[in-house]
Amino acid sequence: MEALAPEEFLKQLSDHREAFWEKMTAERKSYGAEKPLTPQIILRRLQFGVVMERKAGEVSAPWVAHLPELELQHCLSEYVANELKHASILRKRITELNGDPDALWRHPLEELKQLWDFHASLGSFCELFASVQYGHEEFFPRTSKSFIERVEPIDPQTAAIYRDTLLADEAGHEWLAPEILKRYASDAKTQARCLEALQTGCELFGRAIQSFNRTLAG
Ligand SMILES: [Fe+2]
Ligand SMILES: [Fe+2]
Repeated sequence: MEALAPEEFLKQLSDHREAFWEKMTAERKSYGAEKPLTPQIILRRLQFGVVMERKAGEVSAPWVAHLPELELQHCLSEYVANELKHASILRKRITELNGDPDALWRHPLEELKQLWDFHASLGSFCELFASVQYGHEEFFPRTSKSFIERVEPIDPQTAAIYRDTLLADEAGHEWLAPEILKRYASDAKTQARCLEALQTGCELFGRAIQSFNRTLAG
């Protein structure tokens, strides 16, 4: 099997990701994931965010030492610092709202645990970048946009945290995953593994979101 050219390879990955997004969006609509927010739902959503941000930092950190170039090592460590900073900002907001910042961190939903165990088990930084940063992390700005719109009238401070810090930092590190994948996922075997990692990552992410939304409905 021949390796794809870098741009073709990235397109293959993003095509699969976008197909998954379409499917997930249709399912989200079918079980009413976008229903009106209550203070309790906002708290749960922030607690979910703590797990996602902290885990993104934790699974990425070990790969800093494996990147061959200093410049990219520096950027990845900034990424890790940003995600951990987001987790601590969310924890602070939960405390201000009199919630338990680590409720979901201490007792993660089974599907959420499976998602991050999978990311932690990957054998190369290319697979990790395909499954997390080029995979479901790309959905974050989209789902946040609808959350910000709905949370703004009830809790403008939480809306501001998402808009001015979390999403602003996200925009600053979006280039990193395509850059790393273009440079290092250059042989057919690595490319195939990356595609597989992205598909499994999206699948597990979808299940985690669904399981989370079920806890809100109950
Ligand atoms: Fe983040
Ligand atoms: Fe991020």
